[in-house]
Amino acid sequence: MADTGKVLVIGANGQLGIELTDALIEIYGASQVIPSDITASDRENFVILDVLNVEQLRDIVRENGVTDVYLLAALLSARGEQNPMWAWKINMDGLLNVLELAREGIIRKIFWPSSIAVFGTTTPKVDTPQETIISPDTMYGITKLAGERLCAYYAKKFQVDVRSLRYPGLVGYRALPGGGTTDYAVDIYHKAVAGEIYRCFLSANTRLPFLYMPDAVRATLEIMQVPVSKISIRSSYNLAGFSCTPAEITSSIQQHISDFQIEYEPDFRQQIADSWPESINDKVARRDWGWQAQYTLPDMSREMIQCIREK
Ligand SMILES: NC(=O)c1ccc[n+]([C@@H]2O[C@H](COP(=O)([O-])OP(=O)(O)OC[C@H]3O[C@@H](n4cnc5c(N)ncnc54)[C@H](O)[C@@H]3O)[C@@H](O)[C@H]2O)c1
Repeated sequence: MADTGKVLVIGANGQLGIELTDALIEIYGASQVIPSDITASDRENFVILDVLNVEQLRDIVRENGVTDVYLLAALLSARGEQNPMWAWKINMDGLLNVLELAREGIIRKIFWPSSIAVFGTTTPKVDTPQETIISPDTMYGITKLAGERLCAYYAKKFQVDVRSLRYPGLVGYRALPGGGTTDYAVDIYHKAVAGEIYRCFLSANTRLPFLYMPDAVRATLEIMQVPVSKISIRSSYNLAGFSCTPAEITSSIQQHISDFQIEYEPDFRQQIADSWPESINDKVARRDWGWQAQYTLPDMSREMIQCIREK
């Protein structure tokens, strides 16, 4: 950690970026962290940056002595299906711009998230292994698969230190999600606390893997801090928290808000969810760098409801 220069977060205003930026500031200090996004923010040191603008990216990195980049800017699964070409552009060109600066030796270390969206209908659905059939059915998943291969390629060919996690659906109370297929698992808590019925865009028994945001942030910090010798996977590590269905989240909310009600109105996102695994095997992450999720569904529900109420 001592040799870390400044840390640049790209996509800092997003669901993950808001919380990861706070955690990085906690570790490195506000003066060492540069949050950036294409949209504005009044955070200290914040810069507006379009990750597609490679010259601006290079200037920010050079002028500030940035060594580590957390590249979170992306178009997620549901928005990606509505605008596939834009998803390809943001998700691929953004990653290549950052990887190229690392190949030139300007950036030292990169974090780039992949997703369970790399898996597809032909992937084993239960306890999906690290190495398995990877045949995504969405443009988002295609960009994540191509991104994983780019990370592995740059690591092998140019010794770029890029590290990656295949996040499952992320759930947190600080920010509303940005257009993914697991967004329902955030929205549902906000409706429940507001005393409203939730209309769910997935069916009651759609089982998907999730990770509560504090676990996701900790995993990200841990993989970036572990010695390089421990990293055996240069595409992206499987990462598991817990798996659940909308009906199970509903029951766990009803433990706290007994009159909460849900209605099911599946839309185009059902097909995306049906192509993804139900549960993930993350034993390689556990073996290599000691990953261990802490939150279960009941823990998450209790904390989400309490924190949204306080907000
Ligand atoms: N949220 C999840 O459940 C989830 C699951 C798996 C993987 N991921 C991955 O984690 C990362 C972060 O996801 P998130 O949920 O925070 O996404 P989000 O949509 O909430 O945030 C993305 C941020 O990127 C910014 N952005 C978009 N285009 C940009 C550009 N051209 N230049 C700079 N910034 C730009 C947006 O303004 C936004 O603030 C993404 O790579 C995503 O694919 C997220």
